[in-house]
Amino acid sequence: MLLPHPTKNIYLYCTMQTIVVTGGAGYIGSHTIIELLTQTKLTVVSVDNYSNSNASAYERVKKITGKDFQKLEFDLCDKTALNQQLSAIKNIAGIIHFAAFKSVPDSVADPLKYYHNNIASLVNILDFAKNNHVTNFIFSSSCSVYGNANELPVTENTPLQKAESPYGHTKQIGEDLIEFFCKANPEFKAVVLRYFNPVGAHVTGLNGELPISRPNNLAPIITQTAVGKNSLTVFGNDFNTRDGYCVRDYIHVSDIADAHLKAFDLIEQNRNKQQLSLYNLGTGNGVSVLEVIHAFEKMSETKLNYKVGPRREGDVIAVYANNDKAKTELNWLPKYNLDDMMLSAWKWQLTLEKGDY
Ligand code: UD1
Repeated sequence: MLLPHPTKNIYLYCTMQTIVVTGGAGYIGSHTIIELLTQTKLTVVSVDNYSNSNASAYERVKKITGKDFQKLEFDLCDKTALNQQLSAIKNIAGIIHFAAFKSVPDSVADPLKYYHNNIASLVNILDFAKNNHVTNFIFSSSCSVYGNANELPVTENTPLQKAESPYGHTKQIGEDLIEFFCKANPEFKAVVLRYFNPVGAHVTGLNGELPISRPNNLAPIITQTAVGKNSLTVFGNDFNTRDGYCVRDYIHVSDIADAHLKAFDLIEQNRNKQQLSLYNLGTGNGVSVLEVIHAFEKMSETKLNYKVGPRREGDVIAVYANNDKAKTELNWLPKYNLDDMMLSAWKWQLTLEKGDY
């Protein structure tokens, strides 16, 4: 149950309601836990197996929020472990399911790893939800479900094209699976959030993306290149876009995190218009790789050395969001612009350089 905060424009959830966050030690998961702990009274239980994250994220969340929460370690593909550990948690009001592999090139190289992990974990967590009468569910999807869209910006009604990568296909399958699950379980309410390109770090610079192995995403490669720990190769500059570079809709990770609270509020309060609600989470601005590099150079006051190489398999050429639906129905408004994203990513890289994380 929600109570309005006496002074701030936020809601306080009655104590004893628990939200399970899978992949809570990950990039978006840890930023979402920060928002849950600071904006709500929900009890947070995080699940992670640290396959592409590190438990140090929890320490950073604690440092930023001054609050602690329960952490569980198991693989969501292990159904027995999942049922044993989550059955012990009382009063689960909802599940935010982040846990998944997310690299486009990795998925091209090893498709089975992606189909197995991303689909089996989703099946298991939905099965748990059904058996334990947890009816509020939020799923991390991706703009990669649109493939090379036949219209830009994409709305939630833009027809999905064939996915360009196994990663994108696992998200398409995940969305279909949830749709069929909803039809079979009318009491169930789901929100599917299609993230565009989450970048940046917490505004304090104290938490950000910390991939276990060499990152594949543009922003961490840029910041690592700036400190001499990586070398950026831009994948193609001969696309049919305004400057020849790929176009994406970069969105600050804390804005993405905030949308999860609003999505939970929507279904917990039964304000959802459909049993399954889909939202694009992007700023609405298409930005080229070159423009990202220039924004980074401006905000970090650093010249970035990079080279242009061939196109990367699995990349779509251009995609950016129409975010009207999320703004209207979720009452969500992205707060941060590209400069903020690059500055916070840079602050986080400098925190990493100091070894202070
Ligand atoms: C994809 C998904 C996004 C998801 C993300 C998770 C699409 C359109 N988007 O992002 O929703 O959150 O995976 O990983 O599928 N680039 C370089 N050099 C590099 C790395 C990247 O030029 O070394 C370029 C890419 O070609 C691309 C842009 O930077 O144009 C962004 O790439 P990346 O950060 O890897 O994200 P996407 O693959 O776009």
